[in-house]
Amino acid sequence: MSTLLRLLPLIACALLAGCSGKSPSSVTPTRQVAPVLADETARDVHSYAQPLSARVQHVDLDLTADFAAKTLAGTASLDLEVQPGVTEVLLDTRDLNIESVQDAAGKALPWVLAQPDAVLGAKLTVTVGSARRITVRYRTSPTAAALQWLTPAQTAGKQHPYLFSQGEAILTRTWVPTQDSPGIRQTWTAKITAPEALRVVMSAEQQTPEGERVADARVWRFAMDKPVAPYLIAIAIGDIQFKSLGQRTGVYTEPVMLDAAAAELEDVERMVEAAESLYGPYRWGRYDLLVLPPSFPFGGMENPRLTFATPTILAGDKSLVSLVAHELAHSWSGNLVTNATWADFWLNEGFTTYFENRIMERVYGPDAALMLRHLGWQGLQSQLTSLSAKAAADTRLHIDLAGRDPDDGMTDIAYEKGAAFLRSIEAAAGRERFDLYLRGYFDRHAFSPQTTAGFLRDLNEHLLAADETLEARINTRAWAYDTGLPQTAVAPQSPRFAQLDAVAAQFAARGAVALGEVKGWNTAERVYLLQSLPRKLSAARLQELDTAMGLSATHNSEVRFAWLRLAIANRYSPAVPQLEAFLGEMGRRKFVLPLFTDLMGQGEWGKPIAQRVYAATRSGYHSVTVGSVDKVVPLPSAH
Ligand code: BES
Ligand code: ZN
Repeated sequence: MSTLLRLLPLIACALLAGCSGKSPSSVTPTRQVAPVLADETARDVHSYAQPLSARVQHVDLDLTADFAAKTLAGTASLDLEVQPGVTEVLLDTRDLNIESVQDAAGKALPWVLAQPDAVLGAKLTVTVGSARRITVRYRTSPTAAALQWLTPAQTAGKQHPYLFSQGEAILTRTWVPTQDSPGIRQTWTAKITAPEALRVVMSAEQQTPEGERVADARVWRFAMDKPVAPYLIAIAIGDIQFKSLGQRTGVYTEPVMLDAAAAELEDVERMVEAAESLYGPYRWGRYDLLVLPPSFPFGGMENPRLTFATPTILAGDKSLVSLVAHELAHSWSGNLVTNATWADFWLNEGFTTYFENRIMERVYGPDAALMLRHLGWQGLQSQLTSLSAKAAADTRLHIDLAGRDPDDGMTDIAYEKGAAFLRSIEAAAGRERFDLYLRGYFDRHAFSPQTTAGFLRDLNEHLLAADETLEARINTRAWAYDTGLPQTAVAPQSPRFAQLDAVAAQFAARGAVALGEVKGWNTAERVYLLQSLPRKLSAARLQELDTAMGLSATHNSEVRFAWLRLAIANRYSPAVPQLEAFLGEMGRRKFVLPLFTDLMGQGEWGKPIAQRVYAATRSGYHSVTVGSVDKVVPLPSAH
């Protein structure tokens, strides 16, 4: 569609002067109304919505969870802002069974569900007429991509079933019929009915702390009065308990994990304080975490007020809490200022990776933080190498995702090149000025979508304009729009890692004696060493390494992962049972996908292992992980 056509409603609106952007009367006045960007670069190719014509402002869910049928069923009532002359609203759906659409008086409204696209799902067109609140009655599919329905056996406690959702990037449409675009912020409320024995938690304010008994069920109510991107609407239902961590922080998880989770997360309140001291007040009220069952496909997900986290962060020694710093940082970068479309995913993840490390530095000191930056930089280098060969254009920060799955753009480039860009601005402007700038940036754009172009404009106006030498030293356009890394990029160098380079080199020649006091090393040191060892080692050396570092027995998921990759590279069969155990225990894509990919790269040794293990573990993984691994490991039988 031409730009002009797309802007027509806006132009008409300006001419008629009848639509000042005020909310329709059905929206309660206390709710904030968020703007959508009319900017050309903010066009979202992953949504059918036409928000400049008709947009969803508020979602009100009334859903019942049926664990036997694996469905959420009920209604989503949507408050709409509709421009004069516009008669239709376009919604995003995928795999939903739509039963009816009605106006507020219960009158049926005409609707059409288009043929589905494999990635985007099906456009739902509703002829709204003069209605400003519509109610969609629907049920989800048992295979809804956002939802994973776990049997009791797949949980830690083994007694009760469990449900959780994962909305990012475009999966919310598989359980909520709305305008599923990060630039279309919506307030929301929910009433959820679930079996009496289970607790419901959502990424919003809990209005019924213990639920309300109704027959053999409990009803739970939630409200998010700040406009959020729809990918941040999240739910979990299960045998879930709560433990407080601090004044406004706490952890939810299954009872058998509660004490371990609370101990691991004891620094969370301090992290919130550190984050606030850097970039201004935490604006979401409480900050709680939900530690999920092991099939959760991500390390963490920044659902507002309630970060979802993998149990693989429970290392027993708080050594993997940088993940919490990361998800917490999203409360500013991502949840407050949000990528307008997935082409600018780096605005969420690059800012957050930068901010995460600043929190870590405050709470755990500069040496530990530098090691983490150094590891991140190494990840960036290997990502650049692999992408440069097959998809060099994807080494840009702002990427072209037209006709593609947004997952394609979710690489280390967004995280680590994005963070490196911000570090180069910090280096040029000085930390104090840059911190001041960032604090202002979050305030100026709070509760708004942002584009790469918008960020560069803001940066120019509020930081670069004051000093002409800055732009020359940074080269912001090259960072934002060119492939690869600009000359101005500076590699983080941990002096401790330089020592470990020498240790790694000696290990090949001298064996475990070269390692010295490895028992006292932290996670970053262990991971760095494992990644720095020569990829080819003898079985005897690998066995020595295992014994010296206690690798077979470790519960530290990052160390285990680095060890298993090294073992696979050497076709080291004694590690196969551990590998199988790890792949069967958790479904975090960041671990599962590379391990299967590595196995497939090991020809007649690795392929049969990959196929045998995946045939056994696949049904336990979330659709996000399955979708990625299916592309790598061909299974003989149709599934
Ligand atoms: N928002 C992401 C998770 C995500 C990314 C979900 C893309 C869906 C699509 C989250 O903040 C994240 O980055 N998680 C990381 C952990 C982090 C410490 C780098 C993860 O899950 O590994
Ligand atoms: Zn993130």
